[in-house]
Amino acid sequence: MTDLFSKFDPLIEMRSALLEGGVTDPFNLVMEKVESPTVAICNGKRTILLGTYNYMGMTFDPDVIAAGKQALDEFGSGTTGSRVLNGTYVGHRAVEDALRDFYAMDHAMVFSTGYQANLGVISTIAGKDDYIILDIDSHASIYDGCALGNAQIVPFRHNDIDALEKRLKRLPPETGKLVVLEGVYSMLGDVAPLKEMVAISKAAGAMVLVDEAHSMGFIGEHGRGVAEAQGVIDDVDFIIGTFSKSVGTVGGFCVSNHPKFEILRLVCRPYVFTASLPPSVVATAATSIRKLMNSADKRAHLWENSKRLHAGLRQLGFTLGTDEPHAAIIAVIMPDLETGAAMWEALLNEGLYVNLARPPATPAGMTLLRCSLCALHSEEQVGEILGMFAAAGRATGCIS
Ligand SMILES: Cc1ncc(COP(=O)(O)O)c(C=O)c1O
Repeated sequence: MTDLFSKFDPLIEMRSALLEGGVTDPFNLVMEKVESPTVAICNGKRTILLGTYNYMGMTFDPDVIAAGKQALDEFGSGTTGSRVLNGTYVGHRAVEDALRDFYAMDHAMVFSTGYQANLGVISTIAGKDDYIILDIDSHASIYDGCALGNAQIVPFRHNDIDALEKRLKRLPPETGKLVVLEGVYSMLGDVAPLKEMVAISKAAGAMVLVDEAHSMGFIGEHGRGVAEAQGVIDDVDFIIGTFSKSVGTVGGFCVSNHPKFEILRLVCRPYVFTASLPPSVVATAATSIRKLMNSADKRAHLWENSKRLHAGLRQLGFTLGTDEPHAAIIAVIMPDLETGAAMWEALLNEGLYVNLARPPATPAGMTLLRCSLCALHSEEQVGEILGMFAAAGRATGCIS
């Protein structure tokens, strides 16, 4: 018998070598208690959370929690069914209404995760003779959406406007084309030049899908994302998003003004062949989305936090993913995995949780310490965070 697991041996060895060095496993942390969107107890210690994508801090919002509890009491713990059978409750309709209002778009379709939204929409709308033109640093769910479908895949260099234009020009003019972009790329926290890219794509006759997972709620005047901030939201055909970041729960969605959009409910397999979200989840999401519509003050505070942390880390001597803060993600570039893991652990010991990210999730083989800020981090907490980075950075030799 050939052991089908033997292909994982290099990864198993790498992991063992890392852990044998005495480092805490960065991919196995348990939060013993979560006190707020910014503080948890980990290993018995108060820990500031700086790696949760809880950008708008909605997870402990009293209205959000009350809505979830009420739905749990009134509708039970789960739907036990697909959206197209017994899995559509009034709450699913209500959250789709909230999304339509939030984005001022005609259609909204809710999936069980953002991963499934990308999987479903991309694989369903781009068929056998069509092309998907995508940024090479696209999220795994975008690549998996491509893999599930039958379209031809044409990647282009990250955020490179000319490369996108060249690829589009080489494709047969009459074929179906879907350009897939992200508003904020979650590894380095950099924003896409959507204004130029959307214009080029439209000129080439392509439809455009933008994944705004890391910008919803925060970027743009109404928090609709980078497409709104750059003034091209009306030219984007499909926006994909998630409830697992700014919205503060779990779930995914696609919004669109396409007149035939609703047919996707019958033909999109990751929508049809899976159970719908529990009533408590859609109730929390709908309440959170409606509150995000009136959160300009929180957005402004989050920008302040982002700028403060970015400037402070640079001043300490860390190398960051962007020259200026583009979003609420700030990536600290580590020289290698060993140093990254040591720094991650030193920060945890100081009382700070960040994400350790490594290939294949990261671009160009990088090891990153990814920080995601929350609108509820206080100015004092950002100061504490910088102090912890200074101490851990010196202890591990990352900075002098
Ligand atoms: C760009 C992007 N798209 C989609 C997703 C998937 O979202 P979800 O957590 O809802 O599956 C993520 C999650 O990390 C993401 O970063």
